[in-house]
Amino acid sequence: MSKKDSSKPDGTDEPSGMRKGLTSYGDQDFSLFLRKAFIKGAGYTDAALERPVVGIANTGSAYNPCHGNAPQLIEAVKRGVMLAGGLPMEFPTISVHESFAAPTSMYLRNLMSMDTEEMVRAQPMDAVVLIGGCDKTVPAQLMGAASAGIPSIQLITGSMLTGSHRGERVGACTDCRRYWGKYRAGEIDGDETADVNNQLVASVGTCSVMGTASTMACIAEALGMTMPGGASPPAVTADRIRIAEQTGAQAVRIARDGLSIDKVLTPAAFENAMRVLLAIGGSTNGIVHLAAIAGRMGLDIDLQLLDRMGRETPVLLDLKPSGQHYMEDFHKAGGMATLLRELKPLLRLEAMTVTGRTLGEEIERAGPGFVQSVVRTAANPIYPQGGIAVLRGNLAPGGAIIKQSAADAGLMEHEGRAVVFENIEDLALRIDSDDLDVARDDVLVLKNIGPKGAPGMPEAGYIPIPRKLARAGVKDMVRISDGRMSGTAFGTIVLHVTPESAIGGPLAHVRNGDRIRLSVAKREISLLVSDDELARRAEESPVVEPTAERGYRKLFLQTVMQADKGVDFDFLCATKPDGR
Ligand code: FES
Repeated sequence: MSKKDSSKPDGTDEPSGMRKGLTSYGDQDFSLFLRKAFIKGAGYTDAALERPVVGIANTGSAYNPCHGNAPQLIEAVKRGVMLAGGLPMEFPTISVHESFAAPTSMYLRNLMSMDTEEMVRAQPMDAVVLIGGCDKTVPAQLMGAASAGIPSIQLITGSMLTGSHRGERVGACTDCRRYWGKYRAGEIDGDETADVNNQLVASVGTCSVMGTASTMACIAEALGMTMPGGASPPAVTADRIRIAEQTGAQAVRIARDGLSIDKVLTPAAFENAMRVLLAIGGSTNGIVHLAAIAGRMGLDIDLQLLDRMGRETPVLLDLKPSGQHYMEDFHKAGGMATLLRELKPLLRLEAMTVTGRTLGEEIERAGPGFVQSVVRTAANPIYPQGGIAVLRGNLAPGGAIIKQSAADAGLMEHEGRAVVFENIEDLALRIDSDDLDVARDDVLVLKNIGPKGAPGMPEAGYIPIPRKLARAGVKDMVRISDGRMSGTAFGTIVLHVTPESAIGGPLAHVRNGDRIRLSVAKREISLLVSDDELARRAEESPVVEPTAERGYRKLFLQTVMQADKGVDFDFLCATKPDGR
């Protein structure tokens, strides 16, 4: 075999292109001979096979309308790869959509990350383009790529367009929840509910508000993992297709330059991601996913640091659910360049990006801003502090979080009587009962929706207001659980209580009538019950941890970690700080 076949695109002697990761037949030259014979069956020439290979992770699926533009994106990525002298090789991986994954998409995120890691590792490619968008897909791909360790670049599918219902602009899924709330409260009838159902998702693409998908898109760009401007173009726009072409071309360059993912996913990059998460009023899920991605690099997301950063990072982005606008408005306002320019004094500008330039250099290259009304200035923020506060107390010794920017200011300092639901089934059975003993000042507590509890830490933390209170006009109450909440949801909702109730965390021992105190100012979440009484309850009703007999569920329950570790599997974390 010629030297051309074997040398790496970056000039080193490591195997590259089609010679990389040869299947084991004992005879390496025969393995390459066989591989080439098979790929030539698809009509490739030797000239094509000598090029740097760029894998393209295709997550298109009929079950995933958030990735409905995948065919157009793949075509554009391939064009970019070929324009830059590479060979594009598309391959499928698992795709996970929020509404088509039971029991919850989070249950499958780690599986998708393992699929991504192993297929990137197993198949010959010098760089990989990761096409993701719907909530769990981008974190899964970044986790997998971080572990695989090769040059990687994220391509976001982009947000959906907004629709219009009887003259009102609507978009998934903040407005989905708002209209469902109106229906539950008897404010709209079934016919109007059916009408709005046609308008909430006006095109393919991801949710149009600052939910988890938009949050992860912004975080991916803040991490330096996308092309500049890659977070915000809607799915069906020419800008999105252009980003795809640029992504393909850049993938060839990072393959040639050997810009592996560990050079981008550094502690500085994670700090920038946390800043951006806070400044965009991002989804609380972003913390869990960042912790999981960092864990793959042997790094920790320090919740106390996040809280300190939150106190000095204002919410600048005026997007639902914290504000008024939608992702397409953010894009028209200049997208991430506008936000990063405003956040510049708080950013680690030396962080490297997939362009081979630092974040600071990219901000300079984006040029001056223009007048717009979607990204506020630091002097005139949407909310003076970061969107997320980290709480501690005897109810959550390992921490809990609250999205204060989407909460009711009047409930941030609150003490109330606990109304307890033991699990999701119990909640579904009783929440709408006229017999439920509940008042507007009570604190709703839902147990057993943590990583092991449900399992998969579903987005059930957005506990609905009991129907009889909703009818009486109650819009918000303090709600507490060990689960997650959709980034599109809003309310005074304490989430990610750690340790979770299913493994015997204090939440397991809360009883109806206990007093609970929330103080966002003091970052406190306390159960006003003595330690002795809690110990007595633990002895009286010991928690039996969930188990499974076989399969992925068994693997999940045996190895999943708590929220502060990103709900990743323990054996997938890096053991060293360089991601190995
Ligand atoms: Fe896919 Fe919201 S359901 S992004």
